[in-house]
Amino acid sequence: MEKPKILVVGSMNMDLFVEGANSIPGFGESIMCGNYGYATGGKGSNQAIAAALQGADVTMVGRLGEDTNGESLKNELKKAGVHTEYIVTDKEKQTGLALMLLNSDGRYVSYVALGANGSICAEDVKAALEAEKFDMVIMQLEMPLENVYRTYELAKERDIPVFLDAGPAMSIPLERLQGLYILSPNEAETEALTGISPDTEESAVEAAKWLYDQARPQYVILKLGSRGALLYDGKAAELIPCFKVKAVDSTAAGDTFGAALAIRLCKGDSMKDAIRFAHAAAGICVSRMGAQVSIPKETEVAAFLEKEGGSHGKETV
Ligand code: ATP
Ligand code: RIB
Repeated sequence: MEKPKILVVGSMNMDLFVEGANSIPGFGESIMCGNYGYATGGKGSNQAIAAALQGADVTMVGRLGEDTNGESLKNELKKAGVHTEYIVTDKEKQTGLALMLLNSDGRYVSYVALGANGSICAEDVKAALEAEKFDMVIMQLEMPLENVYRTYELAKERDIPVFLDAGPAMSIPLERLQGLYILSPNEAETEALTGISPDTEESAVEAAKWLYDQARPQYVILKLGSRGALLYDGKAAELIPCFKVKAVDSTAAGDTFGAALAIRLCKGDSMKDAIRFAHAAAGICVSRMGAQVSIPKETEVAAFLEKEGGSHGKETV
């Protein structure tokens, strides 16, 4: 498939990131931090931009407020070539905002004010699905849960495979998501869904099997940060290591991983080649500050793979 047609349903946030947040304060305490800045983000729009930069024809469904943050987010999507005509401007709500507190290992804790993302509904999704044909739907959980279920049902009625990035971390019933194409949580999300911390290969396999039994997807793919990803297809599990990079900020790494993986699969890669490509895309993303600004283009990922090819698989897991 030359240019896969992808529908991304989900959140758009302005990210306010603060560097040097090396501990978490209690109520009434303050921690002195380093630099701060604003960057366009949100799990949905990060995925949409990552998918477009990997060569897909992407349409975004979501909601923005009528404010300057909303304008910036829409502009960034347009710059990446994402179709924005099904994005609803919600006059009653503010654009979503995420406060991203980064530590010096590049990891973060965040507080998200959902704003307009909290009003995304099935009618918004239907408008796009009824007007066009899509090869895959990509979504996450940063929107009302009922809309996650309805989006899945609407896509299933049309035989469109659905990739669910199960972030942010929350415990949700999986019955209405039975038959997903790919279910992909990160470490915290895996623990929230299963109650199992995937901190060893054995416990990661146990968690992947649990998720497979509950949601019956074709694949469970756990994102394990610097340890790589665990692939489970209902029969065998395999830990696929990622590349060794200097991690600066993991924001959007998971979104980039999922979108790049989905696009490579649409383009006909084998699952393992697609994961390797997604690791390269996400590795570049973690080596840079910010969400969308850190997402690489397909050509850059290909050049990285060419250069790093020899070292792939040598990372300790
Ligand atoms: P986000 O929610 O901010 O988008 P996430 O927490 O879902 O990110 P992770 O599980 O941390 O994402 O990582 C996703 C992918 O990013 C990994 O599978 C891997 O390919 C890459 N990655 C993350 N951390 C590192 C690291 N320290 N070194 C190399 N690659 C990394
Ligand atoms: O996955 C990263 C994203 O999660 C950030 O851009 C932030 O907006 C939060 O929603």
